[in-house]
Amino acid sequence: MSTHAEVKRVTVPQLQACKGQRKIVALTAHNVSTARIIDDYLDFVLIGDSTAMVAYGLPNTLSFTLEQTGQHTAAVVRGTQHACVVADMPFGSYQESVSQAFRSAAYLVGQGADAVKLEGGAVMAETVEYLVARGIPVLAHVGLMPQYVNTMGGYLAQGRTPEAAARILADARALEQAGAFGVVLEGVAEALGSEITEKISIPTIGIGASVACDGQILVTEDMLGLSGERVPKFVKRYADMESVMRQAVQRYADEVRAGKFPEAQHCFGVKRT
Ligand code: KIV
Repeated sequence: MSTHAEVKRVTVPQLQACKGQRKIVALTAHNVSTARIIDDYLDFVLIGDSTAMVAYGLPNTLSFTLEQTGQHTAAVVRGTQHACVVADMPFGSYQESVSQAFRSAAYLVGQGADAVKLEGGAVMAETVEYLVARGIPVLAHVGLMPQYVNTMGGYLAQGRTPEAAARILADARALEQAGAFGVVLEGVAEALGSEITEKISIPTIGIGASVACDGQILVTEDMLGLSGERVPKFVKRYADMESVMRQAVQRYADEVRAGKFPEAQHCFGVKRT
């Protein structure tokens, strides 16, 4: 009989069990160096399709591909030991049919993802049910859904009228019923974030939603001050890494130009034979 290696990562059932017990902490990552640093502090790490914007400078997430997501997922898996790894299903990789969604999700699981995330409300319930029944945990995503930027007409806060709020609550309920293990609430009215959190049995992960959510997620570059001046209202900057990097690079440039770097300890001696 084969023995199983000890499971050290946070598991999907453990994330679900956090509801009402403790907050879930999550951030995005797309490379080994960032993943390695943030891993210890997180319950899950998301390879977000926001990678398209923060790492590739693209204007939106729509052209990010499954293959790119797979490569970034594999890198983040190599950089982490603790956090559960959730990979975003890119636009066009799951909307066509449940079998297309399964093929795409299975590819990401093959790259090391523990779960996948997809955008969409009740319309995605069948897909969520299909994936979960076949062993792929799904994190849902409602409210401001960046993959719907063209139908929303921009990155606008959602659920700010009673009718719109009722639709998003119904979406969250449908996804809960379908078996999603959690739901990201992005860019929704604060009262709605809090209401959904109270009314559904799976964890809500807020980003521009409410402090009442069961957990929070941010794009790492945004919270570290690495994504330029313009960030969404819901971002809090926990560091100014751009200044830190600028100062370090300035010092390096000065020392190279002044002939002060490299110093003796950075150089190799000759081997005596
Ligand atoms: O792509 C992304 O980064 C997301 C957010 C929820 C952080 O979907």
